[in-house]
Amino acid sequence: MRKTGVLTAGLLAAAMTFPAFAQMSVEDQIEARQAAYQFMSWNMGKIKAQVIDGEVAFNADQMMAAANAIAATANSGLGALYSPESAMDQADDTRLKPEFFEQPEKAREVGGNFVREANKLQEVAATGDQEALASQFAAVGKTCKACHDNFRAD
Ligand code: HEC
Repeated sequence: MRKTGVLTAGLLAAAMTFPAFAQMSVEDQIEARQAAYQFMSWNMGKIKAQVIDGEVAFNADQMMAAANAIAATANSGLGALYSPESAMDQADDTRLKPEFFEQPEKAREVGGNFVREANKLQEVAATGDQEALASQFAAVGKTCKACHDNFRAD
């Protein structure tokens, strides 16, 4: 009995600390996905600075760290942050178009393309090949844009 009580209390504490553990509020979903995209954007920027613009000297370890962060975020199950109630026709402070839920095949396609290219970015970054990384950076960027063009309001 006592043991169960302690366990339950522990689970409740975990649920309060980590929103994903329980049903997340729409506000939390929006905040978390916006933060995830900002974080990926920051890491994409690091890659761009080194392999596209050449403003920063190429550093293979930094490129691998950036690509790992992007791939990990892409693979973290971002779909859980997309409930129909979190689209801009029902919620505030978001640019998610309701079309995301009206065109589930398209949403799956753009999401799947993005995850695939993000995983490839991680593989390419691990090789330290600067030119291959530049071209894979562009491939990932295209998948970001494809989703924005379809499902993000201006
Ligand atoms: C599956 C679709 C999808 C993919 C893939 C995607 N995005 Fe987005 N992105 C969105 C949506 C939808 C929003 C708006 C989120 C909101 O306002 O709730 C957004 C918002 C953003 C924002 C603004 C975040 C904020 O603070 O409001 C940035 C920056 C961004 N994305 C960058 C990226 C980058 C970089 C990639 C690729 C590495 C990417 N996105 C991939 C759908 C996507």
